[in-house]
Amino acid sequence: MRFTSFLLLLFVLVSCNTESSEADKKDAASNTQDPHSYANVHEIRTEHLHLELDVNFENQTIYGVARHKMSKHSTSEAIFDVKGLEIMKVTTGKEGKEKATEYSVGKNDELLGAPLKVKVGKKDRYINIYYKTTEATEALDWLPPSLTAGKEHPFLYTQGQAILTRSWIPLQDTPLSRITYSADVKVPSELMAVMSADNPKERNVKGEYHFEMRQPIPAYLIAMAVGDLEYVELGNKCGVYAEPELTASAAYEFEDVPKMMQAAEELYGDYQWDQYDIVLLPYSFPFGGMENPRLTFANPTLLAGDRSLVSVIAHELAHSWSGNLVTNATWNDFWLNEGFTVYFENRIMEALYGKETADILALIEFQDLTVALEDMTSGEHPEDTHLKLELDHRSPDEGMTDIPYVKGAYFLRTLEQKVGRAKMDVFLEKYFNEFAFKTITTADFETYLNENLLKPNKIDFNTKEWIYGDGLPKNCVEITSKRLDNMIALANEFNEGTSSKIPAFLRKKRGDFITQEWLTFIRSLKHDTDLKTMAMLDQKFEFSTKANPAIKSDWFKLCVRAGYTPARPQIKAYLCKIGRRWFIESVYQCLVDSQKDGDYEFALEVFEAAKDNYHFVSRSTIEEVLKNK
Ligand code: BES
Ligand code: ZN
Repeated sequence: MRFTSFLLLLFVLVSCNTESSEADKKDAASNTQDPHSYANVHEIRTEHLHLELDVNFENQTIYGVARHKMSKHSTSEAIFDVKGLEIMKVTTGKEGKEKATEYSVGKNDELLGAPLKVKVGKKDRYINIYYKTTEATEALDWLPPSLTAGKEHPFLYTQGQAILTRSWIPLQDTPLSRITYSADVKVPSELMAVMSADNPKERNVKGEYHFEMRQPIPAYLIAMAVGDLEYVELGNKCGVYAEPELTASAAYEFEDVPKMMQAAEELYGDYQWDQYDIVLLPYSFPFGGMENPRLTFANPTLLAGDRSLVSVIAHELAHSWSGNLVTNATWNDFWLNEGFTVYFENRIMEALYGKETADILALIEFQDLTVALEDMTSGEHPEDTHLKLELDHRSPDEGMTDIPYVKGAYFLRTLEQKVGRAKMDVFLEKYFNEFAFKTITTADFETYLNENLLKPNKIDFNTKEWIYGDGLPKNCVEITSKRLDNMIALANEFNEGTSSKIPAFLRKKRGDFITQEWLTFIRSLKHDTDLKTMAMLDQKFEFSTKANPAIKSDWFKLCVRAGYTPARPQIKAYLCKIGRRWFIESVYQCLVDSQKDGDYEFALEVFEAAKDNYHFVSRSTIEEVLKNK
């Protein structure tokens, strides 16, 4: 006993004395270069970041100081990422004992921004960057009161993933390294600030908030929201922040979140982040959800009223393991974040609602994947159908397709079928433990899989084909659902003009089927469905007017393809209100692809009216879509 503690002590002493570059070798991602960052993290890296932020809504500017505590190093220069920031001064030394130091901002690249190079002495451990954000910021969405639920107060939120954090904080913006952070934030006193850290439950009269994130996280997970927020508890260690107008419906929609947490912990081990809250953002938020640690950012389109879209919360919660605990080394390894998360999300849904529901969700994803594979195979980058991506010199955003998400999840499902669920679950729990708070590459995962699952069980598996091959391997599992097959059969009757099931169907109401059943029905109707049928369905089920945004998105695509122009006012209202990229991008794309008179002009007109309501992420995506006519 005493001897082992002695050995341990010796080990600790030896590892402390080694040069930091030596210690770095134990880091799984130590030899990896991130093509999307200038930071020299293999020479010097931030260990802790303290932020002092003054959030000014009048001139839509954050005035900030980013105080970096750096690792031991032997370099004379630290390189940070910046984009659209104004750097005022840079100092070294602890607060109060600061000395100005030389720095330079390199040439700005449209995609990556610029390197901020700071001169450091060998003993300098503190670098303080004084800065302010500008209009060119890509992470920040400053919203006027008119775009909030309450319509009285402005709102601000940030979106960091993938490489936007550098546009509101000067830092080493690469998931290769992890940092802890703290922040002192000042906001107008009638607003509340929350971050991906420990959060206030009450408003502070002076608008001053302090935050701590004690677990090391990658830079893309630093996030903040400021608005007229209040907190409702959903359970032990779990709650939701929302504008007062939305707290009741949010509490209803997300009632099962505590059960999700329990299910997740039973599957893959303890939740490591103490608290799990959700903040409901305005409609402009470009994603369904974003897994900021301790505080998922959620889109109000999730409030379907019938809990049919809560799998998005299961997804963001699952990221507390896959992504936030075990993080992709670069954006080329993005499938390690999203594929594992979609798989895990589905296991949570199965635990709560049963296999039928889980299979329905997995099938909807498979429908999306099939369309994506068709588009991508005939497109400019067929190699984007590989799980391991090569996005050098391209935006990491281009990797956000159904491949990392759905092909990634089907890879794990196929593997599960081969090895059996019991072994799969033991393996995954071990994997999350082994790499907790680490950053790993696809190759690290492959080695771990071979050593810990395949070899010990003498299993042959086509891992390489899944990860580095085109399209979908032949051994992909097949999932079926009677309920979705029924919707396909119904749609086919409309398509073929037969009617054995239609009379009974027309006696139903929209609420008699869940969102995913409607999606399947609408997707299965032929693209040139006649206008009489379109009008009849719309009148009967009120898709254009009353359906939830997920259903509307697919319905409006069909309206465009079928040339059902009476839906145009509703399409316009929808695209002006909602900024969730996956919902709106495909509707714009349909309008651009349409050969019908006036559709493209209509798309341009709608975008003109809607673009100020979008976050940069969606605005820039739609601009691209509209350019490629
Ligand atoms: N982390 C993603 C969102 C993201 C990915 C933002 C890449 C920026 C770059 C988040 O977890 C996500 O996947 N959201 C999905 C929901 C999910 C159920 C597929 C979304 O927003 O639709
Ligand atoms: Zn995700």
